[in-house]
Amino acid sequence: MINLLVLIILRGDPTAFQEYWMSTKMKERCVVVIPGWDLMSYFSDKTNVCWFLRQDLAEAIKALHRAIGNAATEERYIVVGNGSTQLCQAALFALSSLSEDKPLSIVAAVPYYSTYEEEASYVQSQLYKWEGDARTFNKPGPYIEMVTSPNNPDGTIREPVVNRGGKVIYDFAYYWPHYTPITHRQDHDIMLFTFSKIAGHAGSRIGWALVKDIEVAKKMVQYLTINSTGVSKESQIRATAILNELTKSCRIKSESFFKYGNEKVKSRWESLRWVVDKTGDKFTLPDYPLAFCNFFGKSSSTYPAFAWLGCNKDKDLKILLKEKYVLKRGGERCGSDKKYVRVDMLGPNKDFQDFLNRLLTIKYPRCFL
Ligand SMILES: Cc1ncc(COP(=O)(O)O)c(C=O)c1O
Ligand SMILES: *[C@@H]1O[C@H](CO)[C@@H](O)[C@H](O)[C@H]1NC(C)=O
Ligand SMILES: *[C@@H]1O[C@H](CO)[C@@H](O)[C@H](O)[C@H]1NC(C)=O
Repeated sequence: MINLLVLIILRGDPTAFQEYWMSTKMKERCVVVIPGWDLMSYFSDKTNVCWFLRQDLAEAIKALHRAIGNAATEERYIVVGNGSTQLCQAALFALSSLSEDKPLSIVAAVPYYSTYEEEASYVQSQLYKWEGDARTFNKPGPYIEMVTSPNNPDGTIREPVVNRGGKVIYDFAYYWPHYTPITHRQDHDIMLFTFSKIAGHAGSRIGWALVKDIEVAKKMVQYLTINSTGVSKESQIRATAILNELTKSCRIKSESFFKYGNEKVKSRWESLRWVVDKTGDKFTLPDYPLAFCNFFGKSSSTYPAFAWLGCNKDKDLKILLKEKYVLKRGGERCGSDKKYVRVDMLGPNKDFQDFLNRLLTIKYPRCFL
């Protein structure tokens, strides 16, 4: 019972897959040893647009996309970044500094990944301005729409909604087969991916952008040069080793990391749906359509990394959960309603279990009486 008093703060920290990397099969692999004399230069390849990107990482990224079939890598520049967070900022900088009219409007359809709003607002750039919900956006002039698919926080498959010839940044952090069916190979001008959400190595801070236009790629690299003078080579080496391991695991799809990951996330979703069901009609969860996954070669549903939990009454769900010592990101931060919260599905086993147990005890909460 004492357990109940411990605050569970579930943020998007994807450690759920750690046991895979600790298994006897994997634990000796991906060990990276770096001698003291190695990796001393700022540069990786001075002839490359992204001069700090290691060639072996570039190859590992392309090989994994080929194995999964989720994105086109041909005739594209790869820009590596300090997480896709930095790349998103680099892309906003690149597109807006190349645009004639400024400030550029930045929009995303509600509910959106709340960090976009922070990224677009907090340096108070004169190049761009956060304008909120893409669906109600009607300001004339150039704009950038952020499209996250599957979406964080609600897991929906998304397309641009403004469609007035503006720029689109596609964030495919979750377009991997453990989360969602890979229905086609994405092929857009700017696509962002992150190492964080594939295998769970958020701490390495590695993301990459696949960029078609060389001018955009150059401007992104310029941003990264000024902002952090490149990206840690130690991190790039570790990411390379793990991405190559992921690609190797795909030779037999039923034994791949993605199969393991899919079962893990799926079973968490099943537990959560069971609990929500048990609590009567107090809570809501989105339903996802079945789609054919080219990677697994069969139909499956989406099992997002976050659950968009709602309550059926017009109440503040975050406050309700706080009474049970559970802290969640409230729907308002995603531009939506406070009757929703974002539940992290990739946290440690114990936190997830504790969360379910507490949710189960919200049978007749005060606000529903
Ligand atoms: C949609 C989306 N994009 C980007 C990121 C940031 O990833 P990174 O760890 O690479 O900065 C996240 C992390 O939660 C995310 O959900
Ligand atoms: C890098 O970008 C971040 C976010 O815009 C900013 O807070 C930070 O000051 C920048 N650092 C440098 C050295 O430009
Ligand atoms: C990301 O930025 C932080 C802060 O500047 C730095 O400590 C870290 O080494 C960087 N990581 C990578 C992969 O470049």
